[in-house]
Amino acid sequence: MRWRRCLRGDAVLTLLLGTALGLLLYVQRDGAVPTTRAPRAQGLTPRARKLQAPETGAAPLAYEGDTPEPPTPTPTGPFDFGRYLRAKDQRRFPLLINQPSKCLGARPHLLIAVKSVASDFERRQAVRQTWGAEGRVQGALVRRVFLLALPRGADAAAAANWLSLLRAESRAYADILLWAFEDTFFNLTLKEIHFLTWASSYCPDVSFVFKGDADVFVHVGNLLEFLASRDPGQDLLAGDVIDQARPIRVKSSKYYIPEAVYGLGVYPAYAGGGGFVLSGATMQRLARACAQVELFPIDDVFLGMCLQRLKLTPESHPAFRTFGIPQPSAAPHLSTFDPCFYRELVVVHGLSAADIWLMWHLLHGQKGSDCARPLPVATGSFQWGP
Ligand SMILES: *[C@@H]1O[C@H](CO)[C@@H](O)[C@H](O)[C@H]1NC(C)=O
Repeated sequence: MRWRRCLRGDAVLTLLLGTALGLLLYVQRDGAVPTTRAPRAQGLTPRARKLQAPETGAAPLAYEGDTPEPPTPTPTGPFDFGRYLRAKDQRRFPLLINQPSKCLGARPHLLIAVKSVASDFERRQAVRQTWGAEGRVQGALVRRVFLLALPRGADAAAAANWLSLLRAESRAYADILLWAFEDTFFNLTLKEIHFLTWASSYCPDVSFVFKGDADVFVHVGNLLEFLASRDPGQDLLAGDVIDQARPIRVKSSKYYIPEAVYGLGVYPAYAGGGGFVLSGATMQRLARACAQVELFPIDDVFLGMCLQRLKLTPESHPAFRTFGIPQPSAAPHLSTFDPCFYRELVVVHGLSAADIWLMWHLLHGQKGSDCARPLPVATGSFQWGP
């Protein structure tokens, strides 16, 4: 009976928040909400990433009409570097919604931090109720926060509405962190440094931190298994590492970086921002190091610069697939809804809220499915296949 009442309360709240969000989106529909996906790391990576087709001859799953919405803000128009350079020293913004007791009590093993934008309530719900659920996973205590900033282009009235909506969401789920800067693509670096500062003061004893986008599916069981042999007191940052990437000097590119902003020919090695894991020790050291690195508009490269300052190299792991999975319509030979696809992975990128739900239920709902059982994380190079 009790859980039923809880469930009903949850559903009503979700409905209320969802409706309020819908109204707000409707009022704000003139341009405040991004509508395209950024090609993220692809633009930064000199080596082309190749997807190999699985060798199974299985018929492709028809799956359309569920294009993932942007999980993080995307660049719009030419970037004003002059303005960026002038404003660069302003890098501390107030925290409007905090979760001061997130890590109080039992010491969490894993803190999951997900970059999200205010309007993406639907995907936050999916993450909350699937892979990002708080509690014990294989005995390890897991906690979760979402990292948000103020919606771009909102006037004072809309901003006040967002604030009260997000406050309500925070009361309901106790997982919202909101900072008072504009949530734009080039401000993701601010999100990075504010999160690191927050985590080192409010979760100083956490063993590991997973940080990623809201459009990923994380196999938390595999992630914990990967971490089982690691010492949280030692340095660790593992993910999809991009090495020797060159700054893009083509002015028309979204990722154009003039030499005045970055003069060197290659970026330091960095982990793709879609999803990576770090130890508590590295989190603390990074928080201090990043405070001394000049702001750089691409957040994952910026983190690479902080790592370089610490003389740390990110660890490349084949199970962190942080590239976007092509739409099934664009690559019908890829059966991305086959749970076996996820069995050996830790992070998969580019999923809609519905995809996240679907994968969760495929992995956890069916008894007897061969692929529902987690396998040890792959240690060799990643291979498609049966
Ligand atoms: C970042 O946020 C600040 C504060 O809201 C804003 O003034 C600035 O224009 C934003 N920067 C970028 C690059 O979007």
